[in-house]
Amino acid sequence: MPQALDGPRVSALIKDCPPLDANSAYCNLLQCTHFADSCMVAERQGQLVGWLSGYRLPSAPEQFFVWQIAIHPSSRGTGLASRMLAEMLERDAMAGVDTLLASITERNTASWQLFSAFARRHGAEMTRYPMFDAQAHFAGRHETEHLVAIALPSRHRPSRSSQLQSEEI
Ligand SMILES: CC(C)(COP(=O)(O)OP(=O)(O)OC[C@H]1O[C@@H](n2cnc3c(N)ncnc32)[C@H](O)[C@@H]1OP(=O)(O)O)[C@@H](O)C(=O)NCCC(=O)NCCS
Repeated sequence: MPQALDGPRVSALIKDCPPLDANSAYCNLLQCTHFADSCMVAERQGQLVGWLSGYRLPSAPEQFFVWQIAIHPSSRGTGLASRMLAEMLERDAMAGVDTLLASITERNTASWQLFSAFARRHGAEMTRYPMFDAQAHFAGRHETEHLVAIALPSRHRPSRSSQLQSEEI
């Protein structure tokens, strides 16, 4: 889980990972604190090499939206992003999530591969929808973002922690 002190390292990693949009330092700090439950950092030998940010939709908390996932170029192709996605869904904070959402630009091959491989591995269906259009929503300053939705089969859905289950019983 990230902490406030990770903020500057997270901002620097995102800057090293085009085509991701750089966010304000303040935005990354809020993610590292208020949204720490749904964000993740990965370190290798003390260096921050992975970042995953996301949130459960306020109006549909069974859906988890991956806002950004960034792996430092030195650590790509080792399965780290896939592992971070899988581990995020194992968190207690993800109990009840049945759909993984992300938005991807047409040319981001690595991202398409990441999410389609994830869907394939989990025997899940991946559907694509329009989301934010280059002209209508970004005033021509950003490529169109396509929404992908991965319906998690029930056996792969995050389960509640045994502690929560025993409290309910
Ligand atoms: C997209 C990104 C997070 C992938 O990270 P990664 O740790 O290298 O991904 P993984 O090693 O877990 O690979 C996942 C799958 O995608 C495939 N893949 C990863 N990068 C690829 C590339 N550049 N071209 C083709 N396939 C690729 C892998 O082969 C793997 O498929 P498999 O399981 O069938 O073998 C990383 O490339 C990145 O940080 N890119 C810049 C930021 C970005 O675009 N983020 C996504 C949008 S939010």
